[in-house]
Amino acid sequence: MAFAVTDACIRCKFTDCVSVCPVDCFYEGENMLVIHPDECIDCGVCEPECPADAIHADTEPGMAQWVAFNAKYAALWPNIAQAVAAPDDARGFVGVDGKMQFFSENPARQPA
Ligand code: SF4
Ligand code: F3S
Repeated sequence: MAFAVTDACIRCKFTDCVSVCPVDCFYEGENMLVIHPDECIDCGVCEPECPADAIHADTEPGMAQWVAFNAKYAALWPNIAQAVAAPDDARGFVGVDGKMQFFSENPARQPA
C-alpha cells in the first residue's frame, strides 16, 4: 500500500508534503510532485498536510490510475527532499477541474 499524488497538485505544488515525509519519497516535475510507490511507507502523514487535497491512499476509489502515474514519473523525475516556494498563483489553482486536460493540450507545460 502507498499514497499517491493526483492531478489536484498540478500548478499548486505547495510542497508541504515534502516537509513531513520521513523517507523522502517525493519526486518533482515542473508542475507537480509524485510519490514513489515502492518507497512510500504508507505512514499517511503527508495526506492532511496538502492544501490542495491532492494526496490519497491507493485504496481509495479511482486511485489505481494515479499510483501508475506516480510510479511512471517517480522513475523519471528528480527526488525532492526539501520544500520549496509554491508558485505565486498556486492558491488560484486549488480545486480547479480539468488540470490534466489543460496540460495535455499545452504540450510545453505538461507535467511530464
Ligand atoms: Fe511519505 Fe508517508 Fe506520505 Fe508515503 S504516506 S509519501 S512515506 S509522508
Ligand atoms: Fe502537491 Fe499538495 Fe504536495 S499541492 S506538492 S501534493 S502539498
